[in-house]
Amino acid sequence: MRILAIESSCDESAAAVYETGRGLLAHEVFSQIDLHQIYGGVVPELASRDHVQRLLPIVERVLAQAAGEDSAAKIDGIAYTAGPGLIGALLTGAALARSLAQAWGVPTIGVHHLEGHLLAPLLEPEPPPYPHVALLVSGGHTMLIECAGIGRYTLLGETRDDAAGEAFDKSAKLLGLPYPGGPHLARLAERGRAKRHEFPRPMLDRPGLEFSFSGLKTAVLHAVRALPAEVVDQERADIAHALQEAVVDTLVAKSLCAMSATGLDALVVSGGVSANRRLRERLDAAAARVGVRVYYPRLEFCTDNAAMIAVAGEARLSAGERDGLGIRARAQWPLDTLRPPGQQREAGYREQVKQEF
Ligand code: KG4
Ligand code: ZN
Repeated sequence: MRILAIESSCDESAAAVYETGRGLLAHEVFSQIDLHQIYGGVVPELASRDHVQRLLPIVERVLAQAAGEDSAAKIDGIAYTAGPGLIGALLTGAALARSLAQAWGVPTIGVHHLEGHLLAPLLEPEPPPYPHVALLVSGGHTMLIECAGIGRYTLLGETRDDAAGEAFDKSAKLLGLPYPGGPHLARLAERGRAKRHEFPRPMLDRPGLEFSFSGLKTAVLHAVRALPAEVVDQERADIAHALQEAVVDTLVAKSLCAMSATGLDALVVSGGVSANRRLRERLDAAAARVGVRVYYPRLEFCTDNAAMIAVAGEARLSAGERDGLGIRARAQWPLDTLRPPGQQREAGYREQVKQEF
């Protein structure tokens, strides 16, 4: 099956073409960072309006690129991100996907954004085996999940408050770095000196697989306030370093706890924060010591993209799953309500309206 995929859940407009047996044929991501930067965060209404303008040209380009490989091939189905995310932004991708599908007479499937992140490592030459544990670390989520197969997810633990990406982004803002702060803070942290600040490692003193990162921004705030009026860059770098170490320490320790609790030996790390170099370094070293292998998506597929939505969509469309007539978009969508491909039951119209708004 040749699948067109569309992602528009937040501030990236993306499309991809993927084919069963051949893999990814084309993909493109447009990031709206410049649009939102002056506001210090994503403005949902601006995100939606921009998706409306960007998506169709991106779709046209990936279709042309994929057709170049085999001009006779047609699209057999369309996958789009149906949630969770910003409802207006999701609706732009969902409406485009459903309209194209009507015009072409092909089925669509609404994909769970986090399932996309979980399946992103399947795009790599050496995909992870099942079962495995996944550490999903993005701007909105921090979760440890036992993955028995596609659509067979058991939540082992998640954050009680801020996500790991949020801890990076909010701390970066306090340090005067531009949005989205994660990559900027990581770069600044490389020049930071060790042990200049000691930030808390929340939940490490407790058993269980839960996280809590909201206290970290307060620790960063106090450290920034204590800086002298003439702040030198080195001092900001020291704070960035301490913040990154605190987040990474916590993620590494809880991931290892999940490995020993499940007895599994493969760990997938995905979502925007999995692009963090220090996290990869520390996880690889710690995992190797206990005989665990870690699998990551390539850097461009850590953050939001449509290639990962295509992988999830292909699995589900190939198993015969299809949307009904409604346009699916859900701001909230618990991951553990997913079922394996072919077994996902679409909620009836009334049930959908209740879930979505
Ligand atoms: O997966 P993603 O693109 O969007 C969500 O679904 O949330 O993740 C974005 C998050 C942001 O919080 C961003 O700051 C963080 O990932 N991020 C990073 C790095 N690259 C992206 N955080 C730390 N280090 C990085 N290198
Ligand atoms: Zn994401």
